[in-house]
Amino acid sequence: MIDKNSIYRRRRSIRSYDTDRQIDKEDLALILDAGTYAPSGGNSQTTHRLVITDRQNLDKLEELVQQEFAGMEIEENTYKSLKNSILRSKQGNYVYDYRAPVLVITANRKGYGNAIADSAMMIQNMMLRATELGIGSCYINQLHWLDENPVIRDYLLSLGLKENETVTGGVVFGYAKVWPETELKREGNPVTFI
Ligand SMILES: Cc1cc2nc3c(=O)[nH]c(=O)nc-3n(C[C@H](O)[C@H](O)[C@H](O)COP(=O)(O)O)c2cc1C
Repeated sequence: MIDKNSIYRRRRSIRSYDTDRQIDKEDLALILDAGTYAPSGGNSQTTHRLVITDRQNLDKLEELVQQEFAGMEIEENTYKSLKNSILRSKQGNYVYDYRAPVLVITANRKGYGNAIADSAMMIQNMMLRATELGIGSCYINQLHWLDENPVIRDYLLSLGLKENETVTGGVVFGYAKVWPETELKREGNPVTFI
């Protein structure tokens, strides 16, 4: 029987955080460990994580992300969420990381075919472990979209990204101001039984 209290059902994308409440080092270590034990294609274990926990770097990155999106143009086929990021950045009110106290950026070797899949497995493992610990999380894809942007790339290189790496994804963690109680219904994700 489906248990609505299962971890995977309780996990929600949290977009409002208690910015001043940092996650304990021990809890952060547990979340990162869950990511370390995620499956990876061919057991390659090549996902590199940049874990940012200090306000100075988080704020700087937030400022750069807004600045770089604001300089981008919207085209006919611009992806819906990217369009929203550009528009809100141009208005000067875009906070892509919801001011969460922890940002984990995932990266992998350029050209590695399973890079995004490995990153996604790792992010989901970390989000589920965070949920178990009562910690909120949200997938953050903007740094992946801006991977080729020279300003963002330079900043990430200064934080430890390697020259031969590409940003594959990201996720924020922190204590939710409010954890959504209502279920977000799933009406897509079709299944065909044979
Ligand atoms: C690949 C991927 C990229 C996503 N990127 C973002 C993002 O950049 N910002 C954001 O707020 N949510 C992002 N999300 C979260 C989705 O919007 C969210 O999972 C979806 O609306 C369902 O809501 P739930 O996570 O609360 O179940 C992303 C999710 C996935 C799987």
